[in-house]
Amino acid sequence: VSVPAFRFSANIRAVDTPPIPEAKGWITQYDGRHGPLIDLSQAVPGTPPPDALLDKLVEEAAGEAFRYGPILGDSELRAAYAADVSTTYGTSVPDSQVAITAGCNQAFVATMLALAAPGERVILPAPWYFNHKMSLDMLGVGVVPLHCRPEDGFVPDVEQAAGLIDPSVKAILLVTPNNPTGAIYPPATIAAFAKLAREKGIALVLDETYRDFLPAGSGRPHEELANPDWADHVIQLYSFSKAYAIPGYRLGAITAHAAFMAELAKVLDNIQICPPRIAQKAVAWAIEGIRPWREAQRDELRRRAEACRAAFAPLNAWRVDSVGAYFAFVAHPFPEKTAIETGRRLATELGILTLPGPYFGPGRETHLRFAFANVGVEVLSELPGRLKHFI
Ligand SMILES: Cc1ncc(COP(=O)(O)O)c(C=O)c1O
Repeated sequence: VSVPAFRFSANIRAVDTPPIPEAKGWITQYDGRHGPLIDLSQAVPGTPPPDALLDKLVEEAAGEAFRYGPILGDSELRAAYAADVSTTYGTSVPDSQVAITAGCNQAFVATMLALAAPGERVILPAPWYFNHKMSLDMLGVGVVPLHCRPEDGFVPDVEQAAGLIDPSVKAILLVTPNNPTGAIYPPATIAAFAKLAREKGIALVLDETYRDFLPAGSGRPHEELANPDWADHVIQLYSFSKAYAIPGYRLGAITAHAAFMAELAKVLDNIQICPPRIAQKAVAWAIEGIRPWREAQRDELRRRAEACRAAFAPLNAWRVDSVGAYFAFVAHPFPEKTAIETGRRLATELGILTLPGPYFGPGRETHLRFAFANVGVEVLSELPGRLKHFI
């Protein structure tokens, strides 16, 4: 491979290569013998957004959305999202504590830029969402792994976390419902981590990209935003990609202290100037405008989670260690084989595309992630028939 005469950033050279293209590459070798490819790799909403939202996006594209907008987002969307967060968590979040970003990955990078300098460190439960690890490597911020165990349902342990904190640690990140394991952290666990963050004077960053897919009637995802002093230690991240099925429109949000917003504005002015405006205008309407559709999606995802669990029930050799809002984390039956080899064979021989455990951090050779939310119940019901050919 030819290389230019200039040298690349050492930080970026240390970042892992994006893993999804490698896995997607395997499917070219599948000959279709068991039926069409079942793509359970990247977490993508299995359904397009409702027509009413698509119409709204078209309408906004024809209007004034070509102009720059405010750094922290349009006031209509900040207000609509603040109201949505307030209802969801039984609290009252003012618009001034909300910022809109070009997606939740950007929300994470911007938050970390505002929180941690190169050489400082952040605690990440492992297995982790690979982009979180890649982002911190890119920024030269150290990652302190907090290892989670299958026997705990991959829920992190707060005492273990407490033992990892030293003056270089600026934040703990929790992703709940989790990517990759699907684990839904109990509110008491989140409360214990919030207490730890408060005691240590560090930030608890909650990535709640999948919160809209918690089972209907399960109550608030947690109680932290209802604490009067929540903003002193909690920063919450969100994505509109999954719940509104618009990943290509790039929209996310940060809920945090107003003083943090002032620092964040410096970051966001540099990396985005303003978030995408067509999507902001359409979503300001959609938060209430497509609420019934969003609730139907939540119910549909519960059905898919059940179908995923049922698909593995007759397959004794496979062990479903956790099933959550979007993902199942499953131990494969080949202890002598690596997860990458197993994932590659699943794709090339059976046409089932998953992501191998090591993509999500060290020591997960035993597991594969199935993004069951990508496909309907009838497709999930084909899994046992195909997997039984796998020996
Ligand atoms: C935990 C988590 N955070 C963030 C993202 C990125 O979301 P967005 O499309 O809003 O950047 C994802 C997407 O898969 C995710 O799983």
